[in-house]
Amino acid sequence: MGLCPNKQRRRTPMLTSPRKPGLERFYEGAESLFVRAYDAFYAVGAPPIAGDIAFYDRLARATGGPVLELGCGTGRIALALAGLSVTGVDISAGMLALARRKSERLAAAANSRLALVEGDMAQLDLGRHFGTAFIAFRSFQHLLTVDEQRATLTGVHRRLRPDGRLALHLFDPRFDLLAYENPPAIRQSGIDLATQHRYVGEILRTRRDYLNQIRRDLWRYAKTDLNGALLEEATREMALRWTYRWEIRHLLELSGFVVEAEYSDFHGASPAYGKELIVVARRETNLRRRLSEGRFRAPGARAAPP
Ligand SMILES: C[S@@+](CC[C@H](N)C(=O)[O-])C[C@H]1O[C@@H](n2cnc3c(N)ncnc32)[C@H](O)[C@@H]1O
Repeated sequence: MGLCPNKQRRRTPMLTSPRKPGLERFYEGAESLFVRAYDAFYAVGAPPIAGDIAFYDRLARATGGPVLELGCGTGRIALALAGLSVTGVDISAGMLALARRKSERLAAAANSRLALVEGDMAQLDLGRHFGTAFIAFRSFQHLLTVDEQRATLTGVHRRLRPDGRLALHLFDPRFDLLAYENPPAIRQSGIDLATQHRYVGEILRTRRDYLNQIRRDLWRYAKTDLNGALLEEATREMALRWTYRWEIRHLLELSGFVVEAEYSDFHGASPAYGKELIVVARRETNLRRRLSEGRFRAPGARAAPP
């Protein structure tokens, strides 16, 4: 007897390539509103990222360099870790162009320790090893498939020194927000101090692909002068994959890491449902032994923050 009584052919779930062909990435184009607004929105540490720079700085100093940041964007963090040797990788030439422009303002010594590389974190091709790696502010969630996630984690594993550490910052998915037909309006704004332009972003609609764990938000960005006169506006879709707490732990283990600590903010708060999901994992050279020794920590049992 067949397992599909309605005789429909079983369809393979779309788990490999849900990015629509030709769809722009959200942060594409140095001159796009979406790239130029980024620093105006996040120059002041908004709640999800409050304290993140100091956190990564402590982690890198405690673990050792050099430091690798994947999805470094406009260099908000990479440039701030100026005392360390940092390589920032980003897929967006536009975001990197802004990071390079800002890096010209660093002291010569700090600038010489900074490398900014255009590339896909899922296809890492770097010829050196690192002590510490991190993927900040949900950049990992731009990877829309499990294949890309695993390729990224195994790529980092290959590039980390034995006992090197990887920190990931995701959001812990809130079921109520995922289930809402019309989720609460999200709006963000900020002023570019150099031009005195104001940037505003708002979500016009959200679609969710529950099978692939992807939410697609259609954002409208606008630029106004300080009197509120509209200078420019555009819409673009941002797709983010949500990943559950245990899923990320399993992915890390599959990729050769042992989770050492979890937090719900950058000040060391215990893991909490629906808050930030910050994971610190150590590159494990002998994962089987470590697991059999029972050194696997449950989420509630966190290590002291770095
Ligand atoms: C929210 S921004 C974070 C930027 C920076 N880490 C920060 O915290 O300010 C996400 C960044 O991830 C980058 N990104 C998305 N997918 C990527 C990929 N596959 N490889 C490398 N970078 C990627 C985007 O271009 C963007 O700059």
